[in-house]
Amino acid sequence: MTSTRGSAEARGPAGRGRAGSNTADARSEQVKRYYVLHAPVYDLTRWTFLFGRDEAIRRLGVPGEVGRVLEIGCGTGRNLVRIAQRYANATITGIDLSPEMARRARAAVASVGPRVQVSQEAYGASGQYCGWPDVILCSYSLSMMGAALPAILDAAARDLGQEGRIVVVDFADSPYPWFRSWMRRNHVDVDGSVGRELARRFVTLHEETHDAYGGLWRWLLYVGRPR
Ligand SMILES: C[S@@+](CC[C@H](N)C(=O)[O-])C[C@H]1O[C@@H](n2cnc3c(N)ncnc32)[C@H](O)[C@@H]1O
Repeated sequence: MTSTRGSAEARGPAGRGRAGSNTADARSEQVKRYYVLHAPVYDLTRWTFLFGRDEAIRRLGVPGEVGRVLEIGCGTGRNLVRIAQRYANATITGIDLSPEMARRARAAVASVGPRVQVSQEAYGASGQYCGWPDVILCSYSLSMMGAALPAILDAAARDLGQEGRIVVVDFADSPYPWFRSWMRRNHVDVDGSVGRELARRFVTLHEETHDAYGGLWRWLLYVGRPR
């Protein structure tokens, strides 16, 4: 795939959010601490509410044609393994902020071989990801970015260039203030911000939303290309 890409020099660090670096950095530290406790039970528990992840993986592209994949916030590597199985020619990079999650992801992909790499860092910090990704997957990670979300999506759009695609599955919103508040305490924003910030930077190629647990929240499956 040939594409127009932004230069690495032109890319600033993501993680500097609309509310200032302190707020974005504070969320990063909260997320790191959160996963010290939650990483050991993550794969046992999250299938009960992180809906749509396999469908998002199917939307990454046509098997055999997908070249470079970047997952931002790869967690325990659950998706990386499935991407490697489905897209046999792909080179895949997973990035995760949390040392505990990145360690688990490295263990999960060890048997796949060197075409899957895991980097423990905040996305946007180094500006060099697996060459230029053809497609970026964000699976339930954007809702945890807090104030860094706009800068992270800016960096993703620059990393992709005009011909790249972003595939997102995430919490969309909830009509219940108590639920939004509970999720916020768990460092997850279920307030419509993911959909709004995507729409500002990407042209929508596909979007669907689904109710979960009788409408307690809605989740979003989105495919877009940079504007
Ligand atoms: C809910 S988990 C999702 C994991 C995986 N994508 C999945 O679908 O199971 C969100 C992940 O995003 C990571 N994360 C949050 N903010 C990040 C950032 N700024 N850069 C990289 N990873 C981040 C967290 O550490 C966590 O592992």
